[in-house]
Amino acid sequence: MNIPEIKKSFFRELGKAHDAVDIENVRVAYTGRNGKLTAILRSLGIMPLEERKKTGPSAQALRKEMEEALKEKTNALAGSGGRPASNVDLTAPGKKFSRGHLHPLTIALRDVRRIFSSMNFSVIDGPEIESEYYNFDALNVASNHPARDMWDTFWIKQPEPEEKDPRKHLLLRTHTSPVQARFMREHTPPFQIIVPGRVFRYEATDAGHEINFNQIEGLVVGKNANLANFKFILEDFFRKFFKGKKIEFRYRPSYFPFTEPSVEVDIKLAGGKWLEVMGAGMVHPRVFEYAGYNPRDWQGFAFGMGLDRLTMIKYGIPDIRFFYSGDLRFIKQF
Ligand code: DAH
Repeated sequence: MNIPEIKKSFFRELGKAHDAVDIENVRVAYTGRNGKLTAILRSLGIMPLEERKKTGPSAQALRKEMEEALKEKTNALAGSGGRPASNVDLTAPGKKFSRGHLHPLTIALRDVRRIFSSMNFSVIDGPEIESEYYNFDALNVASNHPARDMWDTFWIKQPEPEEKDPRKHLLLRTHTSPVQARFMREHTPPFQIIVPGRVFRYEATDAGHEINFNQIEGLVVGKNANLANFKFILEDFFRKFFKGKKIEFRYRPSYFPFTEPSVEVDIKLAGGKWLEVMGAGMVHPRVFEYAGYNPRDWQGFAFGMGLDRLTMIKYGIPDIRFFYSGDLRFIKQF
């Protein structure tokens, strides 16, 4: 390249430079140690005198011109909001000032609701102060049945004389299952619902037990709802909840008064051990009868899982009591 060509290409490239790095690259390419103009300046010494007299001054003049243009461009970028020579990027998006965040149980609950809603489930509520009838009788747990011992119960103090009617005898619900009975009384299948909610147990607390925790109940009733449907929905739910992590499932026979047959579901995440995550089964015909359905007309499945437990598994939380401790050292980790 001769000098006019070098000049032309230098200004073309400098014109395209958008930041300090681009400018530096142009500088190196033309006036750096192996730069295009530098090569000509270096060769002046071996040029015939006549040529040197012609080339020398114009090469020197171009060098000066280039240096000035480089300086000018650098200043122009710094002044016009372009990326300046320092590495502070004024065009980067601002940082949001954090005003706190949701509790991990709330985050997990929102995930659960979103996933089931996407499968066309409705999200239903029920009362935390419940009658003995809905908490037990309507779920096929007779008052003299030893299965009642599966749920250590906080009873609401009885008026005098003692109330014998289970519909008036109150307690803090020990599970979300009573909402199955309440919902069925007022709706005709087919339907699919989940019932997230707070439940209470009269128990000693430890790393795995609290007197107050959260469950997610599920109920699907229709003409054909079956355990194969249950397996599909459940496994789809868990894969989404654990964001596509590899999960193995295990189904064990179990007993609940309100389902027949009943199963217990275990999951295993990569590298972990088997963890019990829910009880489930086909809705017991007696439960349909209590709801006013003819069990020959309908069939369905139900399930119940602990939201606290799911959240503990998801985030690796070792003790359920952290959720309710109000300890900022815990809360701030989410
Ligand atoms: N209510 C049960 C409990 O708290 C959990 C459960 C088991 C719910 C089986 C269900 C079910 O709906 O079908 O221990």
